[in-house]
Amino acid sequence: MPLNYDSLATVYARNRNVHPGVLVALMATGKIDSSSHILEVGCGTGNYSIALHEATACRGAGIDPSAEMLAVARSRTNALYFRQAKAESLPFTQPGFDLIFSVDVVHHVTDRPAFFRKAARLLRPGGRLCTVTDSAEDIRRRVPLSSHFPETVAVEMGRYPRIATLSDEMAAAGFGTVWTETVELAYPLSDIQGYRERAYSSLHLIPANAFQRGMVRMEQELASGPIAALSLYTLVWAEFTLR
Ligand SMILES: C[S@@+](CC[C@H](N)C(=O)[O-])C[C@H]1O[C@@H](n2cnc3c(N)ncnc32)[C@H](O)[C@@H]1O
Repeated sequence: MPLNYDSLATVYARNRNVHPGVLVALMATGKIDSSSHILEVGCGTGNYSIALHEATACRGAGIDPSAEMLAVARSRTNALYFRQAKAESLPFTQPGFDLIFSVDVVHHVTDRPAFFRKAARLLRPGGRLCTVTDSAEDIRRRVPLSSHFPETVAVEMGRYPRIATLSDEMAAAGFGTVWTETVELAYPLSDIQGYRERAYSSLHLIPANAFQRGMVRMEQELASGPIAALSLYTLVWAEFTLR
């Protein structure tokens, strides 16, 4: 059954934060400054586009199919344009974006080649597309999702496209150069409310008893101190160059 992000919007807004490594990489490799024009695809509650705007004063837009996610994003800022749409049918016509990016979204996109082709048309020459996702290794290594809820590993392997597949699809969409960057963050986790509230979509996709087992294990470990958490992402970058 597809996830209903409308019903997840409040939980998501309360519990999901920007990964600092992803933000730094988007700014640095995306070469974002106050003159940049960005588009976030699957912006959800606007976490990343708002953080990029606040850090650089760039202009930007975010699209997402979920009206409830967008309502939260709009309540947080007037500085960005948010519109209801899917990656498969980006509602823009003119090239001019310096960076088009998505975070934790590409596994929901049913026609990735159409998304990547349209993104290539919307970038200015030299503009970059970034797909922030999880490699198979990221999925296996993440703590506490994979360590405490091991049933999520098979679920995620089944729904996340492989990095090599994404790279090939981005190249086939007309991007001259495609490369990857990885970020990771080790941190002490003591607030597990986001896990209780299942703010991570794979926790909706495992059996109830597997979810309960993982929660009990987290509670037990927390009794003797924070959990040593590890958050990882792989960024698949592509640059649009005129041939
Ligand atoms: C895990 S959330 C990530 C939200 C945001 N990028 C973030 O990191 O905070 C996934 C988002 O993808 C959106 N989404 C689902 N299918 C999509 C599609 N076909 N095109 C664009 N966004 C989609 C959902 O509505 C949801 O907001």
